[in-house]
Amino acid sequence: MPKFVKIAEISKYEGKEVTLQGWLYNMRSSGKLRFLLVRDGSETIQCVVFKNDVSEETFNNADKLTQESSLRVTGTVAADKRSPLGFELQVKEIEIIQIAQEYPITKKEHGTDFLMDHRHLWLRSTRQHAILRIRHEIIRAARDFFDNRGFTLIDTPIFTPNAAEGTTTLFETEYFGGSAYLTQSGQLYGEAAAMAFGKIYCFGPTFRAEKSKTRRHLTEFWMIEPEVAFCDLYEDMQLAEEFVSHLVQSVLKNRKNELEVIERDISKLEKIIPPFPRLHYKEAVEILHKNNIDFKDGDDFGGADETVISEKFDRPVIVHHYPAAIKAFYMKRDHKEPEYALAMDMLAPEGYGEIIGGSQREDDYDLLLQRIKEHKLPVEAFNWYLDLRKYGSVPHSGFGLGIVRTVAWICGIKHIRETIPFPRLMQRIYP
Ligand code: 4AD
Ligand code: MG
Repeated sequence: MPKFVKIAEISKYEGKEVTLQGWLYNMRSSGKLRFLLVRDGSETIQCVVFKNDVSEETFNNADKLTQESSLRVTGTVAADKRSPLGFELQVKEIEIIQIAQEYPITKKEHGTDFLMDHRHLWLRSTRQHAILRIRHEIIRAARDFFDNRGFTLIDTPIFTPNAAEGTTTLFETEYFGGSAYLTQSGQLYGEAAAMAFGKIYCFGPTFRAEKSKTRRHLTEFWMIEPEVAFCDLYEDMQLAEEFVSHLVQSVLKNRKNELEVIERDISKLEKIIPPFPRLHYKEAVEILHKNNIDFKDGDDFGGADETVISEKFDRPVIVHHYPAAIKAFYMKRDHKEPEYALAMDMLAPEGYGEIIGGSQREDDYDLLLQRIKEHKLPVEAFNWYLDLRKYGSVPHSGFGLGIVRTVAWICGIKHIRETIPFPRLMQRIYP
């Protein structure tokens, strides 16, 4: 018997006396009874204090407790069919660790700004707790997926000398008298690693100086990016759909309670099984035009356009062959229709927008050099990247999945600021 038991493991101790340590989530009183709802991070349990069963000190201690006070509570574990956990604690003793001051987050409705200002405390709320546990499961399943398929994890740098995804969203920082940029994507380093290890993934924070205040953009978000040597666009799309399906199915399997807490419609998630529908960019544009959307052929899709396209399907849809002119410099073009890039985006259902961006990479030295110049990027900063096309260049592809948008979609929450513990937005860097 451990000295302190985790509430999540309480079922192992039915009929036994245990001590829990945690925080008071809520309390109800009724005559000689006090019902303490205690949470310890793993779960929440109702602890029943009956005046006749405890010392006067323990009963008084119960009455002193305020919301979020920290405590240790000892009692007997009893089965209780009515509680979601299936067990309650019949209290013998309460030890107060700290009496919390008046807690700012109460049962009444608070505005989002207020809650975001108190994000460090808001994390304790049942709903936020559930969302972040689902996020953890998505990340765990993502690592598992690649680890089980022979990919090597390669950590890519955060300080970089050059842009990967266009110069308009670069964060510049002083670097010993020179300057450096915070990474927008680990991809270019991932390509170098793929030539060394065959199949790799990187997973880390990425930064975009997004000047848009949409519910889909953060300035700092985590991205997982596989990169595979000897892989074309079609194999890349297949990897992406198997990957996303694995994430959703893992959450369904391992985080059912949390999905229930946030009232997610599970039937929508159960459908996320490959193959996913695929559309050529031209077919996607046709859908927009059929829906009377004023969209110029050749432009990139905005959030509203993505919603119209994805609403036609009950699983994520992959749009491929975007016009090369609106895509990144490193994307290979299709030799059969050279104005289109071997690019793909995966759009989540229910209006959640792009969760994956990927492509086959340009593997020809001369063409890549030409693209770098066309995009007015500094060639010196890319010499190492060009080297990869000099020494054993092979067809290769990869993609990046943004964790925050994926969590938002799987959880069915509107704004991505709730899908990361401490969100960074254009107008928010506190707490
Ligand atoms: O489409 P993006 O820009 O692609 C890349 O960065 C490639 N280098 C990835 C690769 O091929 N290895 O970004 C990939 C994904 C998007 O689909 C989106 O999910 C997410 O990253 N993303 C953002 N998420 C939140 N806030 C932002 N500002 C985001 N920008 C991109
Ligand atoms: Mg993209």
